[in-house]
Amino acid sequence: MTDYDPRLVDLYDRDNPDGPDHDFYRTLASEVRARNMVDLGCGTGILTVTLASAERTVVGVDPSASMIGFARNRLGAARVDWVVGDSRNITGTGYDFAVMTGNVVQAIPGADWPRTLRDLRRAMGHGGTLAFESRNPAARAWDNWAFEDKRRDSQHGPLLERRIVSAPAPGVVELQTSTTFTATGECVHETQLLAFRDRNSIADDLVEAGFAVEATYGDWVRTPYADDAPIIVFVCRAV
Ligand SMILES: C[S@@+](CC[C@H](N)C(=O)[O-])C[C@H]1O[C@@H](n2cnc3c(N)ncnc32)[C@H](O)[C@@H]1O
Repeated sequence: MTDYDPRLVDLYDRDNPDGPDHDFYRTLASEVRARNMVDLGCGTGILTVTLASAERTVVGVDPSASMIGFARNRLGAARVDWVVGDSRNITGTGYDFAVMTGNVVQAIPGADWPRTLRDLRRAMGHGGTLAFESRNPAARAWDNWAFEDKRRDSQHGPLLERRIVSAPAPGVVELQTSTTFTATGECVHETQLLAFRDRNSIADDLVEAGFAVEATYGDWVRTPYADDAPIIVFVCRAV
């Protein structure tokens, strides 16, 4: 993958702060008494460090060296083992809990997706819990994602941002984001492809990989999933 510009990684936590999604995953970790877990696609580690404790070891895995570089420098980073890589780079077995938060699963395209689930199943012990969320394609969140000439300040100076959104194939949304550092005129372009999978296709993929779906929620307070929910939250058991 092409890595993120570290200056844009510095903005990530401001745009994606701790919130009810993180509370959901922390509560679930406590409920299942997680002792050794994986946060796959951990990004800046904003949630990851809060999951680690004296009683629970956490491995944070992300293919972005910029993201992991940021994570390694945050408060509490020493409590976590950080790995630059994807599911193929998860070492060890017998993990009792794994999460993919912040819609990570949508960043995993094509054949990489079922392989990721198989890798996780191999790494997890029988009975372990896997939890993640994915945006519901029926809610068409991408319809509101385009913007033009948005200005804001950052620790790297004033920014001018623009995003073009398209749907190049069924179930795939492409984001082209341009960020101009107006003090210098330098412009950073990022293209991101997001997979939008529906509840049933994700459930089928999970079963194929060796997981049983225990619950699907439509929000962070465990309302059972309905077809008009904005998100699909999966809680699964390795079988
Ligand atoms: C939207 S961020 C979410 C970060 C973090 N989990 C959170 O909740 O803030 C998506 C992350 O997925 C990572 N990612 C992209 N492809 C991946 C893959 N194949 N396996 C695991 N993570 C991946 C990206 O590098 C990025 O850090």
